[in-house]
Amino acid sequence: MIDELRQDFEIPGAVEVVSGMNGLPKVVLTHRSGASTEIYLHGGHVTSWKAGGKERFFLSRGSLFQPGKPIRGGIPVCWPQFGGRGSLPQHGFARTSEWQLARTELLDNGLVTAELQLTETAETLAIWPHQFALGLRLLLDEMALTIEAQVINTGNAPFDFQLALHTYFQIPDIREAAIKGLRGVTFLDAMRDRATDVETRGVIRFDQETDRIYVDAPDVLSVDGIVIEKRNLPDVVVWNPWIAKSQSMADFGDEEYLRMVCLETGTIETRPKLAPGEKWVSDCRFLIR
Ligand code: BG6
Repeated sequence: MIDELRQDFEIPGAVEVVSGMNGLPKVVLTHRSGASTEIYLHGGHVTSWKAGGKERFFLSRGSLFQPGKPIRGGIPVCWPQFGGRGSLPQHGFARTSEWQLARTELLDNGLVTAELQLTETAETLAIWPHQFALGLRLLLDEMALTIEAQVINTGNAPFDFQLALHTYFQIPDIREAAIKGLRGVTFLDAMRDRATDVETRGVIRFDQETDRIYVDAPDVLSVDGIVIEKRNLPDVVVWNPWIAKSQSMADFGDEEYLRMVCLETGTIETRPKLAPGEKWVSDCRFLIR
């Protein structure tokens, strides 16, 4: 399978298909500046983004790379359900499904792109009776990574969904981390039974387990030195498991909470509804300033 993918999608100097952890196919995009990103077809899961000479995404040393299990770190794609509020497995099935590589390109302006797609299978139809095409397009530039997500209803009945790019950023120390751009935004606090509150801080810092959905957040935010620009992804989740929860997660090291923070962009409290044939599009850009 990897040989076929190589033949069809490799671009010398820009796109490589390699055997990743446990032999799972991994696509590696390299920009002429040296920036790179890696994406597993398992989960349609970005696991690495290097820009400005540094790894920007966190990947747990305890992560599983197994069919049916999500990868811990990078960008899990939560779809068509976010979290556990619904009949599907936690965060939906996209992050545990095997995706197809649909296209790779080296554009004239130097951007390197890859498109991945997930469509219904007997397994998804058994738990979610809808025909769909979920697409991800990655665009790698010298100091930016853009992820366009789109959903098409390819069936003959309407459906709605939630989606989140559950990005794990690698940071030097959670106790020094700063998230900006959420002042004045209403949030649902999972640590207080989803109580509603309003963020008063211009700079969010961490000293405990944090798990919040900021509803209708501004489209420009930042986490340490990375700017996040989003479109059609109204909600933002801020998550750090802190000490006790880290210890309870089998695929996450006890101390790893110190080096990561999740700043997730999604449509969670707003559920897009698609009629047959309709398409929903979004994009999210990570930029080093
Ligand atoms: C976050 C949720 O998005 O994902 C948290 O807000 C959850 O409640 C976290 O713990 C991790 O989820 P999972 O399923 O990957 O362990």
